[in-house]
Amino acid sequence: MTDPTQLEHDLLAAIAAAKDVRALEDLRVAALGKKGSITELLKSLGAMSPDERKTKGALFNQMRDRITQAIAKRNEELSGAAEHSRLLAERVDVTLPAPAAPRGSIHPVSHVMDEVIAILADLGFSVAEGPDIETEEYNFTKLNIPPEHPARQMHDTFYLNREHNPAGTLLRTHTSPVQVRTMQRAVSSGAFPIRIIAPGRTYRRDSDATHSPMFHQVEGLVVDEETHLGHLKWVLEELCKAFFEVRELKMRLRPSYFPFTEPSIEVDIQCDRSGGEIKFGQGEDWLEIAGAGMVHPRVLEMCDIDPRRYQGYAFGMGLDRLAMLKYGIPDLRPFFESDLRWLKHFGFSPLDIPTLYGGLSR
Ligand code: DAH
Repeated sequence: MTDPTQLEHDLLAAIAAAKDVRALEDLRVAALGKKGSITELLKSLGAMSPDERKTKGALFNQMRDRITQAIAKRNEELSGAAEHSRLLAERVDVTLPAPAAPRGSIHPVSHVMDEVIAILADLGFSVAEGPDIETEEYNFTKLNIPPEHPARQMHDTFYLNREHNPAGTLLRTHTSPVQVRTMQRAVSSGAFPIRIIAPGRTYRRDSDATHSPMFHQVEGLVVDEETHLGHLKWVLEELCKAFFEVRELKMRLRPSYFPFTEPSIEVDIQCDRSGGEIKFGQGEDWLEIAGAGMVHPRVLEMCDIDPRRYQGYAFGMGLDRLAMLKYGIPDLRPFFESDLRWLKHFGFSPLDIPTLYGGLSR
């Protein structure tokens, strides 16, 4: 039998030198396992005389405890080291730049809408909203377009099933119903003067290269005790100059007819089409950009506003058309076809215009 003192000495040295947890476990089995060297020593006690067993037994048990403790201690050292090196290997470098996430772009119509809102907000207008699904009353009747009026025909649009909609609902054909909603709200809250714009989606049956069944308009409405066409002209001029980025721009007001304005006008701006592309603020050509007029007294009355005290002006224009004109996009249809290549080409990065997108709340 090996000398127990020598055996313990060798075991303790081997434990201290164990390189990893697995080597240590092998040592543990070799010493304390079923057939381990220490286990064998303890088994040998059975063959001894009672006296010898007493002294050797105590000795061997202490030896076993020391070996057990040494293994536990070394195990702690080794697994701590293992943990440490694992942490080192897995360390995340938080200073590495993140991989670039694919970024979308701002749709040209959204961009134009934001531009127009920003310009008119500078002139003191705030944004008002109304529903896309509108009642016939707001879309037509309260705008002085009675049921038998031919203007309803021109606008004929997507009506919701009458059976389920006794109020007669439809997809709004223009943003003008927001005028009515805003005037009613102003009457009930006493918030005069009114100075709002209403950008949003509108719907009609037309569909060709320059018309889409869904398109966008921006409506403007001012109601105050002293407003006139001169104010309207000035606002539209400032809007067009800022939007088309020109210092001077001639504007032409042509008489027209809308049921909800009196007088009604159509607004043209000066442009030059001679060079193949369109230039604003120069040239001999005219381009229609808006319908407008003084709010019809009947419309004011239908909203419980006294037309002898208040007058207003209103205008409406197509945002998609503004986008086509400013960015030289010849066809309206791709605006709404969701072709990513087209959107990438004509879209705007939100980073390109930090003041615009940083300055607006949405
Ligand atoms: N709502 C009209 C349209 O869609 C445009 C319009 C004309 C709006 C005159 C107005 C206005 O506010 O005064 O054809």
